Amino acid sequence: MTDSKLYPESVPQAVPAAVGLPALGLGTWKLPKPQAPAVIREAVRLGYRHFDCACDYGNEAEVGAGLASALREGLCRRDDLWVTSKLWNTYHEPKQVRAACERSLRDLQLDVLDLYLVHFPIALAYVPFDVRYPPEWVFDPAAEKPVMKPIAVPYADTWGAMEALQRAGLVKRIGVCNLNVSMLREVLNTASIRPAVHQFEAHPYLTQERQVRFCQSEGIAVTAFSPLGAPSYVPLGMARPDESVLADPVVLGIAAALDRTPAQVVLRWGVQRGCAVIPKAQDPAHLAENARIFGFSLGEAQMAAIDALDRRRRFNDPGEFCEKAFGTFFPIFD
Ligand SMILES: NC(=O)c1ccc[n+]([C@@H]2O[C@H](COP(=O)([O-])OP(=O)(O)OC[C@H]3O[C@@H](n4cnc5c(N)ncnc54)[C@H](OP(=O)(O)O)[C@@H]3O)[C@@H](O)[C@H]2O)c1
Repeated sequence: MTDSKLYPESVPQAVPAAVGLPALGLGTWKLPKPQAPAVIREAVRLGYRHFDCACDYGNEAEVGAGLASALREGLCRRDDLWVTSKLWNTYHEPKQVRAACERSLRDLQLDVLDLYLVHFPIALAYVPFDVRYPPEWVFDPAAEKPVMKPIAVPYADTWGAMEALQRAGLVKRIGVCNLNVSMLREVLNTASIRPAVHQFEAHPYLTQERQVRFCQSEGIAVTAFSPLGAPSYVPLGMARPDESVLADPVVLGIAAALDRTPAQVVLRWGVQRGCAVIPKAQDPAHLAENARIFGFSLGEAQMAAIDALDRRRRFNDPGEFCEKAFGTFFPIFD
């Protein structure tokens, strides 16, 4: 496949409800630092314009180096890019929010973020940058039994500090992640700046139809994380290999009928229901394949067949992994 054939259908299109959020982004969780600059540069070359980053991914400096090299080479202009970062759990106290954002900006080599999200509705005790960065989940990793140290910070207070970032021009938009509908309603009740985006797990085995519908009815753009489902979680022991939607007979059948790959079909389903999708890929073949989702579409019956695969299977559930990995029972969706 030549670049000229690849490019036209890899140009991201904006999610309708949103403020120009490109429907295809590149996820960067678990993107290894050594490979990150080259993967990011290659992604820009392939037409990716939306990059999903976070303090917690531990690689913002390397992602920033990749973006900087793409910009230096003239592969795109800064205005063409949409860069998202996320406020980590240990910085929910309003007095910590600005410094956390400034640290992400510095690492990403940017003056302004296109979007800054609150990563989880989980407030943990502050860990100074010089003690540990990123701080991750447990308060004292050297403890005999490391655990999380939750603190009582009203979400509305954190949100107020997020609003201040937008007013100060450090970020263009603010948003939320991993909220249930009740909590999102509560944010809308008190916010003076509404969330532009809600990012949550969504794939054919967790379609989140009502959450998507609620956000869209409120004019809040949806970003689906882990849009490919299980593959991200199998190596972490959080999903079984036989739970992969990429091997589902319905998806395989549609892929064969359209002469596309299962990943392209699943991502296309995601954007066609009006969500942005942010698949992470470091394998060059995956990176190129995932970008090519705008030159075909799924028919109504194909969309419905994928909708019907829903199993309400959540792979990224703090109610499960916080207890297993961080010694702390911390459900948030229940
Ligand atoms: N807000 C939150 O709480 C939250 C939580 C989780 C994730 N996220 C964001 O969402 C992004 C995406 O989610 P994710 O990384 O969990 O999962 P994902 O993007 O659904 O899946 C990534 C995995 O799928 C593989 N893959 C990629 N393209 C493929 C293809 N065409 N065929 C087969 N396998 C393919 C990747 O392999 P290779 O890398 O080897 O190519 C990787 O193992 C994250 O990177 C992060 O930016 C946000």
